[in-house]
Amino acid sequence: MLTKKQVLDFEEFGFLVLPDMAKPSSRKEMISQASELVQSMKAEWFESVFSTQNQEESSNTYFLESGDKIRVFMEEGEAEGVDGQHRVNKLGHAMHDLDPVFSAFSHQKVWADIAADIGMASPGLLQSMYIFKQPRIGGEVNIHQDATFLYTDPISVVGFWFAMQDATLDNGCLWALPGGHRMGLKSRFIREEMQTRFEVLDDKPLPETGYVPLEVEAGTLILLHGLLPHYSEANRSDQPRQAYTLHVIDQAARYLPDNWLQRDKAMPLRGFVS
Ligand code: FE2
Repeated sequence: MLTKKQVLDFEEFGFLVLPDMAKPSSRKEMISQASELVQSMKAEWFESVFSTQNQEESSNTYFLESGDKIRVFMEEGEAEGVDGQHRVNKLGHAMHDLDPVFSAFSHQKVWADIAADIGMASPGLLQSMYIFKQPRIGGEVNIHQDATFLYTDPISVVGFWFAMQDATLDNGCLWALPGGHRMGLKSRFIREEMQTRFEVLDDKPLPETGYVPLEVEAGTLILLHGLLPHYSEANRSDQPRQAYTLHVIDQAARYLPDNWLQRDKAMPLRGFVS
C-alpha cells in the first residue's frame, strides 16, 4: 500500500500524511452518524454527570468506564449561550466496535495493509474517538505523546487520524514535531482505583518549538507514531474541524493493567480485518 519512500518518511519524521483515504461517501455517513449519536446520548450525559451531587467524581467515573462504550464528552469550561449539541468535544472510546457505521469504516483491509507496511505485526484496534472541534468553541489540545495515554511494553501505539473536514491553521489543524518520536516517553497517564494521575518518566519537558502545521484536506489520513509530540490549537474559525481517530496497538506487546483505558474481557481487541 505504501511506497518505500513513505515508509522511510514515517520512520524518519514520526508521521505520514496520506490524502484521499476516506471517501466522501464514508465521511458523509460518519459525520451524520456522529451527529445522531450525540443527539441520542445528550440526555444520558446530562443525567449521569450533571444531575449528581459530586460532579467531578461522576465525571471521572464516566470517563474511566468509557473504554468499551460509546460516550459523549463536553468541552471544558462554560461556553455561555451555547446549546449542548455545540458544546460536545468528542465521542469515545469504542465506536469502532459498537457502532455499525464506525465499525465498518474502521475494519478495512486497506488500513491493515498500511499497518503492515509500517511494521505492525498484529494490530489491535484499542480506541476510537470522534472529535468535533466545534467552530469558535473547540478548545486546544496540549502537546502530548499518545503513548502517555495508551502504553504498551514495548511501546507500539500508532494513531490513525482521519480528517472528516478540511483541517486548517484557523480551525485547529494538527501540529507535529518532525523526528520528535525519537526522544523517548516523557510521562504515563495511569489509573489507580477510580483515580488517574501522571507519572513522570523524564523530567525534561517536551519541546515547545519546532512543530509544523499539518493542514490537510478532508479525507486525509495522518499516521502518528505513538511517541511523536503533537498538539492542536483551538478552533478560531466558524468552520467545524471534525476528525475520527483510531489508536492501534501491537497485540504482541503487553498492554499494561494500569492504563486508564480498560476493556471488558468479553470485548477482546480485534484487528482491522478480523
Ligand atoms: Fe494525540
